[in-house]
Amino acid sequence: MDIQAQARARCHWLPNLDAAATPRYQALVDRLAADIAAGTLAPGERLPPQRLLADALKVTVGTITRAYREAERRGLVEARVGSGTRVRTLAADAPRFHHLSHAADGSVDLSLSVPVPHPMRAQQLATVLERLAHRPGAIDAALAYHPEQGSQASREALAGWLTEQGVPMAADELILTSGGQHADYLALQALVKPGEAVASAALTYPGMIAATRQLGLKHVAVPMDAEGIRPEALERLCLQQRIRLLYLMPEHNNPTGARMGQARREAIVEVARRHDLLLLEDGVQFVTAETRGTPFYRLAPERSLYIFSVSKLLAGGLRLGALRAPANLVARLTAALRAQYWAVPELMARVAADWLTSSDARTLIDWQWQEVAARQRLLAERLEGHRIGAHPCGFHAWLTLPEPWRAVDFVARAAERGVTLIGADPFCVGSQPAPQAVRICVTPPAERARLDEGLTRLTALLAEEPRRDSPLV
Ligand SMILES: Cc1ncc(COP(=O)(O)O)c(C=O)c1O
Repeated sequence: MDIQAQARARCHWLPNLDAAATPRYQALVDRLAADIAAGTLAPGERLPPQRLLADALKVTVGTITRAYREAERRGLVEARVGSGTRVRTLAADAPRFHHLSHAADGSVDLSLSVPVPHPMRAQQLATVLERLAHRPGAIDAALAYHPEQGSQASREALAGWLTEQGVPMAADELILTSGGQHADYLALQALVKPGEAVASAALTYPGMIAATRQLGLKHVAVPMDAEGIRPEALERLCLQQRIRLLYLMPEHNNPTGARMGQARREAIVEVARRHDLLLLEDGVQFVTAETRGTPFYRLAPERSLYIFSVSKLLAGGLRLGALRAPANLVARLTAALRAQYWAVPELMARVAADWLTSSDARTLIDWQWQEVAARQRLLAERLEGHRIGAHPCGFHAWLTLPEPWRAVDFVARAAERGVTLIGADPFCVGSQPAPQAVRICVTPPAERARLDEGLTRLTALLAEEPRRDSPLV
């Protein structure tokens, strides 16, 4: 047998590239994607060694290396030193996203960015449901199909509320979504093609990392400083490659707490105009009007999208968000929405809009902002002298650990003391090195005293030396 025949006999995966018109490496990646989608290649399955596949397909090893690298970039496979290249497993995504059942029983959970628990929420939702049940036309509207953008009435209510809050927009610009995460995903799916690049701060919201991976998009990490994305670094990256969309959290970066001043926003808009970037501003971590800067869609309306969600104000379980888009992009976004699941359920849109625009909600949201501000002050007091990134009414703070602490050890030791935290890893784009830092959410405990208990335990831990119990070999 010749070398090719021998190699073919030993290859458990043999893509047929004969009819492919694209470059060989590209055709190989496309075949790989199709076979994964079809289930021919299972999650975790090892791909043939590069030399063997090169011999089997009669191409150079360089072609296979390039294809495997591209497949990794598109999130199809994972390469591990010593164990080759494998089809990505769902488990590989797990640590990169939220762990909703992360906290051990009895532990002080400071890991999740959730609204502060309060019995007011359940009472207010019950009142809204009662009100809607008796409002003429409301139930019929909830039973009907509506346009993909969502019903005019619900969009008008949300747009009106946002306008009152200093985020002015018209109902026609809004597309209702099933929460902020859905809006993030929808924007990427509709506006960025597979293989194209999306950029964000090097430390960003894990849901965005999950979305770019799921869609096979390249995710470019932009270096940051205390105000978030650095415009000159973004410019450099744009000169090196075609970036289609820039994801931004200018008010309160999740996780670092970085906030962009006006000059920084304007500098980013200039780069975006020079390189024709779309700007996707995620406003889910909604902050008070007094602390908010100019949204990007007001600086560059022609290229900017804005995401809002009621998750952090009312309740995450409502799954109700909205995406503001320039008029020329609305049709593309609604076409994608139609292909997914037509439109957000009107029942949920009515519930969220009715609740958000009620005086009850005003009471709840004002209470929460005051409570969160008090919790941030408490955190600043307890962790005085440490490097903290936070927003005065933000749900979380970012603690850069003092030497020689490593985040992984700190998270583990905090768990032993009954405090649940998340380290930097899930927020890191691509293979960026994770800083030795942890995110502390101040909102999950129902009682402020419970937060204090958690913070006191963390302060005590910070005063200790990390345990060195790893083997010395
Ligand atoms: C920045 C950011 N975007 C989006 C989301 C998801 O929002 P939703 O629960 O509305 O899907 C979160 C949730 O923590 C977030 O922090």
